[in-house]
Amino acid sequence: MVIRRAPDLRSSEITDEKLYLRRREFMKTAAVPAVAAWAGLAPALALASGQDALPNVRKSVVTLDDALTPWADVTTYNNFYEFGTDKSDPARNAKHFRTKPWTVRIDGLVNKPGDYHFEDLVAPHALEERVYRLRCVEAWSMVIPWVGIPLKDVLKRVEPQGGAKFVEFTTLHDPKQMPGQRIGVLDWPYVEGLRLDEALHPLSILAVGLYGKVLPNQNGAPIRLVVPWKYGFKSIKSIVGIRLAAKQPVSSWQASAPQEYGFYSNVNPDVDHPRWSQARERRIGEFLKRKTLMFNGYADQVAGLYAGMDLKKFY
Ligand code: MTE
Repeated sequence: MVIRRAPDLRSSEITDEKLYLRRREFMKTAAVPAVAAWAGLAPALALASGQDALPNVRKSVVTLDDALTPWADVTTYNNFYEFGTDKSDPARNAKHFRTKPWTVRIDGLVNKPGDYHFEDLVAPHALEERVYRLRCVEAWSMVIPWVGIPLKDVLKRVEPQGGAKFVEFTTLHDPKQMPGQRIGVLDWPYVEGLRLDEALHPLSILAVGLYGKVLPNQNGAPIRLVVPWKYGFKSIKSIVGIRLAAKQPVSSWQASAPQEYGFYSNVNPDVDHPRWSQARERRIGEFLKRKTLMFNGYADQVAGLYAGMDLKKFY
């Protein structure tokens, strides 16, 4: 992946729902232009997006105090190599990507394997908004109000068997629609994996939208993973396969450069990428670099998953 260096201002805290809602209420009514530029502007841009609104989205309890990255940046500065390796390629090349009908095959060590139509997969679950930091391994970051469903709820529905220890996710393989797949940048299809306990963690979600709208194609429509304490590349897009397995899967990035990309890929400012530092990041839209936080700021919630593990070894 390309190296992008970037700024840092201040670290932010996770806030409770009340504070977050108060803040949003305030943003709605604030007439000060500087304040509008903070976050009030971003939803306005979302309204101009042309994406359909998602109904009945519930606000999440755990959220952030960070300023949201504007819709325009979230949807035009993308990594989705199936549609090109330039940040601006996916928005352009994924315009006509067909996401309907869409089927996700869930198989492997589960009692209820099957081909699940997108609608059937999502409908039984309440849609939640989750404002998460996304920290790319290239050392830039964004703050995105995803809309999704907890991955654990989907996994519980298909009943993982006792021997299941890992989850492997696969992106659609369709070189006709995905011009990047006609080039050997990666071994297609894109594959990612999680340990089962990571997948069952309440922070892990399957996203189907952002800013209250249907997920734009360039962001991984119709359904993509979001695991906020890991580098962005773990958050695999346009998922067609979810397989429960006993053995640790090999992800596309591990296969392409094992010395650079490990299975865990937890955001860790103390473990540098062999070719660049991970200590700081540039928040898209900001000028100064900010410090990268351990587990991307979610340490209090996820550090326990890695108790006793040498994170330099299991990078
Ligand atoms: N998923 C697939 N299938 N193909 C990709 O190239 N890029 C990853 C991840 N998921 C990628 C992918 C990387 S490197 C990042 S940083 C995030 O998607 C970017 O997500 P965003 O464009 O929605 O911000």
